[in-house]
Amino acid sequence: MEKGRTVSNPDSSPQRHLIALGRWFERQKRVLPWRDAPAPYRVWVSEIMLQQTQVVTVVPYFEKFMASFPTVQALAAASEEDVMKHWAGLGYYSRARNLHRAANQIVAERGGEFPSDREGWESIPGVGPYTAGAILSIAYGKAEAILDGNVERVVSRFRAVTRAGGDSFYKQRLWRLAALGVREAARAGVSPSVFNQALMELGATVCTPRA
Ligand code: ADE
Repeated sequence: MEKGRTVSNPDSSPQRHLIALGRWFERQKRVLPWRDAPAPYRVWVSEIMLQQTQVVTVVPYFEKFMASFPTVQALAAASEEDVMKHWAGLGYYSRARNLHRAANQIVAERGGEFPSDREGWESIPGVGPYTAGAILSIAYGKAEAILDGNVERVVSRFRAVTRAGGDSFYKQRLWRLAALGVREAARAGVSPSVFNQALMELGATVCTPRA
């Protein structure tokens, strides 16, 4: 070991922030129905509902949806009318139409098997880069990045990234930092699921636009 380095001291290791964030999440995390059994179907449905909609609003809709459509096969077999009825009040109804269309596609074209990589998920209607990263990290434990408004705020503040170089350069840098973060966390023993959800949770509850 180099002279003067104290790698074994957790307070000075370069990964200490990642480990502290993971521990904070494990201690503070809200109990949410998609967190206790993070199968791909449940995580996918929850992430679509959570686009543009707050957690507290989503929870009862998610539970009712899962009770009526417990599997992707059940969702595919349902009528569009029935699916839309379950979405009534959540808003952004194209999400429900895409979800139903995607369920049919997954059953008809993939034998009911979900994709297990980013390219596959991003080809599913309604799934963009954030949602693909969320599903892959939470349901598959893959070190894939996520970036939405909340995570952008957390990462840009933590790494002191400014918008000086323009919006697209800013986003590109933040995606790269989010990807480095989730990989480095995994090497430090913090799972991609915990790390990414910790970023979401920190942005939603502590690192808010005003705080
Ligand atoms: N917002 C988006 N995805 C979320 C998740 N999995 N948990 C909590 N908030 C979220």
